[in-house]
Amino acid sequence: MYTRANQRNLTRAQKRRFVDAVLALKRSGRYDEFVRMHGQFYVTDAEDRARAAHMTPSFFPWHRRYLLEFERALQQIDPGVSVPYWDWTVDNSPTSSLWAEDFMGGTGRLGDRQVMTGPFAHTNGNWRINSRITDGKFLTRDLGRPRDPVALPTKEDVARALADPVYDTAPWDSTAPRGFRNTIEGWNGGAEARWLNHNRVHRWVGGLMMGATSPNDPVFWLHHAFVDLLWARWQAAHPESGYLPAKPLPSSDPAAGQVFAADQPLPPWDVKPSALLDHSRYYRYV
Ligand code: CU
Ligand code: CU
Repeated sequence: MYTRANQRNLTRAQKRRFVDAVLALKRSGRYDEFVRMHGQFYVTDAEDRARAAHMTPSFFPWHRRYLLEFERALQQIDPGVSVPYWDWTVDNSPTSSLWAEDFMGGTGRLGDRQVMTGPFAHTNGNWRINSRITDGKFLTRDLGRPRDPVALPTKEDVARALADPVYDTAPWDSTAPRGFRNTIEGWNGGAEARWLNHNRVHRWVGGLMMGATSPNDPVFWLHHAFVDLLWARWQAAHPESGYLPAKPLPSSDPAAGQVFAADQPLPPWDVKPSALLDHSRYYRYV
């Protein structure tokens, strides 16, 4: 049992230990394996195959296990490290300490959006992008997208999602018209920006955080730790509500075979969503 802390409360020494463990994982090649795994599971609902990670009810449990695996890998390097979380409803500006030189580094420069500051700047020698869709060996960001501004989700946006007592609903994809999962994951926005919570954060960071290989940007883990915390808050707020679908969908359902019910094992770990509902077996949020 260990804790995951709000990144804004980390000491300088804690930030350095986290960064050092991430850099060591990168040197070993294992970091890029995590990036590739995310790319491999970036299946959209335009494809007629199983979706474990995105546009799907198992968005929360899949990423919970994915973060746990990453955290275990970090802890093999430094047992005192855990993944901090980024509460983007509070630390919602490019001037937040999150983006300082001693932690994530800052936004990208004009033109090629290359991150030039901090431990993950390519020019500092430790962070080469090896697995991505397009060319380029450097991390890119465009925090807040100044030329076409996008705002991070607010406390009110999150509160609206947390108030929905239904976990997820048919058609169990990016078009689900309500439900906590899609409200947080953030598809189906249309004109209603309030829907776009998790996705809007990827967009606000910009650069490599936008695509299937978004874990190339280490802030991915801090973002998803907060998403994981929001799931825990939703569970605490709705003790009578559970993961849906509870039972495998009937074969007549168009989503049958594409989404995972509570007891249908998720790839690549073969773990049921129902086995991932209680995070307090592993860590707690402080
Ligand atoms: Cu993901
Ligand atoms: Cu994400």
